[in-house]
Amino acid sequence: MTMTDSTTSHTETDGSEPNNSETTDEANTQTVLKTDGLSKSFGAIDAVIDVDLEINRGEILAIAGDNGAGKSTYVKMLSGVLTPTAGQIYVRSDDRLVERSFTSSKDAEKAGIATVYQGQHLTPTNDAATNIFLGHEPSKPGLRGSLLREIDKARMVEESNQLLEEIGFDFDPESPVEELSGGQQQAVAVARALIRDPPTIILDEPTSEVSTTGTDKIIDLVRRIPEEGKAGILISHKIDIVVDIADRIAIMRDGKLIDVLKNTSDVERIDIVSRMHKEREL
Ligand SMILES: Nc1ncnc2c1ncn2[C@@H]1O[C@H](COP(=O)(O)OP(=O)(O)OP(=O)(O)O)[C@@H](O)[C@H]1O
Ligand SMILES: [Mg+2]
Repeated sequence: MTMTDSTTSHTETDGSEPNNSETTDEANTQTVLKTDGLSKSFGAIDAVIDVDLEINRGEILAIAGDNGAGKSTYVKMLSGVLTPTAGQIYVRSDDRLVERSFTSSKDAEKAGIATVYQGQHLTPTNDAATNIFLGHEPSKPGLRGSLLREIDKARMVEESNQLLEEIGFDFDPESPVEELSGGQQQAVAVARALIRDPPTIILDEPTSEVSTTGTDKIIDLVRRIPEEGKAGILISHKIDIVVDIADRIAIMRDGKLIDVLKNTSDVERIDIVSRMHKEREL
């Protein structure tokens, strides 16, 4: 079908062409992140199989697929939570794509990839502001900051407040996370990714715990990611949202990347859903 994007095939990297292990010549200078043959097995379970995919600045790439298709496992490799069993991850650094292997999520964040995880692990007893700024705490001005490394909590609270307001939420950033609703916790997770101002933001089911109005707010925010030249990777079971905001839709089934659809006006949710389930319907 014409809507199938040709870049999904494995033909580019199959075969025995020489492969520079450090960098890759990439015709598309917009590509910020790219995987070649990325795979992950858990014992006998092949959760992600040989995924070739690139993510470009200024786009929202959605990853759709059934429960267990491998979506979270794939992005966890991009965000340093899981180590790939095989394959490569390339991240743009200046004018080149450089091969990276992440040993932690902090490592991936340093490379410019921030993630909002499905079932985000926030520290429940800490307050929202502390969770949002974790690892990025501003120091107090003057010697107390530079010499004593005292954290500027007031600024954290103020900036958290601003950010939460910007994404449409209104609760006290000094509330412990365990006392917040699921949707408010999700907002903390989204704010946590945004405060890092990364070139690539991954959101794995960012609206799963959120009310309809909260969902609209978070979706508005995701929609704005490309405006600043950033790239967004969105995993969502809500196909209407995916069709509404994604530029391209990658479809995974049983660990494999099945298709990448350019999201033009003729893509319909039925196209996506049928590709997600094809084999089971036969
Ligand atoms: N830590 C793990 N150990 C063993 N198997 C795992 C682990 N994490 C995921 N899996 C398996 O890998 C496969 C892919 O899971 P994954 O969580 O990536 O799916 P998903 O597409 O994100 O699904 P969902 O839409 O339900 O979130 C599943 O079969 C799952 O059971
Ligand atoms: Mg998942």
